[in-house]
Formats: sequence, C-alpha cells, structure tokens
Amino acid sequence: MGEGICDYTKFSVDLRRHMWMAGVETELRRLIWQIAVTGKYISAKIHESNRKLAGFQNIYGEDQLSLDRSADEILKNQLQFSGFVREYASEEQAQVVKIGTGKEKYFITADPLDGSSLVDSNLSMGTIIGIHHEKVFGEGGKTMVAALYITYGPLITMVYSAGKGAHEFVLNREGEYVLSHENIRLKERGSIYSLGGLRRDWLPEHLRYVEYLEAEGYKLRYSGGFVPDINQVLIKNGGIFMYPALKKEPKGKLRLLFELQPMAFIMEQAGGCASNGVEDILSLKVEDLGQRCPIYIGSRFEVDKAKEYLQGKN
Ligand code: AHG
Ligand code: MN
Ligand code: MN
Repeated sequence: MGEGICDYTKFSVDLRRHMWMAGVETELRRLIWQIAVTGKYISAKIHESNRKLAGFQNIYGEDQLSLDRSADEILKNQLQFSGFVREYASEEQAQVVKIGTGKEKYFITADPLDGSSLVDSNLSMGTIIGIHHEKVFGEGGKTMVAALYITYGPLITMVYSAGKGAHEFVLNREGEYVLSHENIRLKERGSIYSLGGLRRDWLPEHLRYVEYLEAEGYKLRYSGGFVPDINQVLIKNGGIFMYPALKKEPKGKLRLLFELQPMAFIMEQAGGCASNGVEDILSLKVEDLGQRCPIYIGSRFEVDKAKEYLQGKN
C-alpha cells in the first residue's frame, strides 16, 4: 500500500464531481464521500490486524472478530462527525444507535466489515451501506435513497448508487477515488452463478434450479464474501448470486436490512433485480434488525428463472 492511500487529506475530486454532475443532493454527496473516505480507515485496520482472528461472539452468537468491532466503531464515529446522520443501525449492534441531534436528514444501515472471517486466507471483504431518509423499520427498501459498498481486495473499489445508475470508483495510489465504471449495466442474461449453503441442506426446488444452471453451463464463482461475489456479478455484467432457504434455516443466512436491501438497490439501478423467490427484496418490510431472508440477485433472466423453479412452475 502506497502512502497515498492512507493520506486522509485527499479530496477525491472525481467522485465528488461525478455526484455533483449526476445531481445528487449536497448533503447526500458529502455523506457518500465521507463513507468512501472511511473505507481507507477500515482498510488500514485490516492491514494492522495482520490477519489475526481475535474471537468474540456477536449478538447473533456468531464469531465476531476484533476487526468487525473496529470497523463498526470507525464507521459510527465518522458518520457522527459528518453531521448528516440521525441514526445508525449496524449488524454489530443490538439496537439502532442515535448518533445525531435528532434533526439530521439521514438514517444509515451498515454491515461494517462483511466477510471478516476471510481475513486469514487473504480473500476480499467489504463494507455495505444503506442510506435512508426515514427510519429503517416498516417500509424496508422503500425509504432508501442511496446505497454503496466498498471492496477490500487487491484494490479498494467503491460502488454507489443514489438512484441514478450504479457507478464504480477505484482508490488509486494517490488515495483518490477515480471513476472506473460509469453506469454499470447488467445483460439480460449472464454466465456465472455464485451460491452459499450446503447442498445437503437445500430444498428440492432450489436444488432443481441449481441443476438447471449447471446443465446450461453456468460457471461457479463463489468466494464466500458477499461483497466481492455481488461485485463479480455486477462487473462481469450479469449472472446470479444466491443464498437460499435451508432445511433448518428457512430464512437463509443473509440479513435483509444490512446486506440484502442495499445490494438489491444497487443491482436494480444496474438493470438487474433481487427476489426471495417470490417477492422483490426491496418490497419486503423489515420487522427486526437481524431479519434474514433467502436471496436470488442478478440478471433478470436468471432471477425470473429462479422464481419459476421456487414457485414450482418448472
Ligand atoms: P458476515 O461476515 O457479515 O457475518 O457475513 C458473511 C456472509 C457473506 O459474506 C457470505 O455470502 C456468507 O456469509 C457466506 O456464508 P457461508 O459460509 O455459509 O458460505
Ligand atoms: Mn455480513
Ligand atoms: Mn458483518
């Protein structure tokens, strides 16, 4: 990592200009920029951790690394400092945290460091953010005005959407986010699939759908990190990511509020879609913070086909 990346005084003119040209409202622009810059701090922590898996348990009884905690703390502090955020809902916190004075415009959801258990094997991880203009409970995805994710891989990249397409930026050696893909568009049909959960735990409808994809010659591309796996579908312009209902976990593994709805927002902005097999992910109401949900997300053809299989029409 060059010194530039950790130079927090850089302004990422390209990113700011892009949002300004796209007509993104001033406070939202500043907020997205602030979160992108926070990615540099989180990345510095990943380097500092020296790939150590220090164990705690999170509120869901899952292994939580000190890295998860640090990423959460960094993000919360930066958002508080921005002055634009009223409440912060994080996968790492049991409750929504009030971080503003009550007058700020935005409500944030965060998975501060998704895939942190991949740190020892040096696979990519990511930060997932949803930005809402109202409280995050109740209307689910309908209150979302923007979403973004950051990937910590061989390069740090950031994809954002403020409802006007999905755009990717790469953090360069000088520490500036530079536009790399404007208006990412998915093809109607892709050629890769990515899927979690053990085969022996899948339900028969899902198994038949996967057999269909395999027979059609789709290539398996799964890293076990939600952010890079979704990013692959986006940047390769098509395909599908799925984490299905499991026999003992009918709601699957991934979380609606922190993980699925922000990615569904971005995917829709790129011309793709996201479903739980029956309903659109963004139309689902969020009743509790940790709510899980099966997901089929990516190109329209593959998601529609998944719905046919899951609803027993195939
Ligand atoms: P988190 O690190 O926030 O707990 O999430 C990990 C997720 C996600 O990155 C990935 O898609 C999924 O867990 C992988 O699950 P499996 O290990 O069951 O494949
Ligand atoms: Mn996660
Ligand atoms: Mn997490």
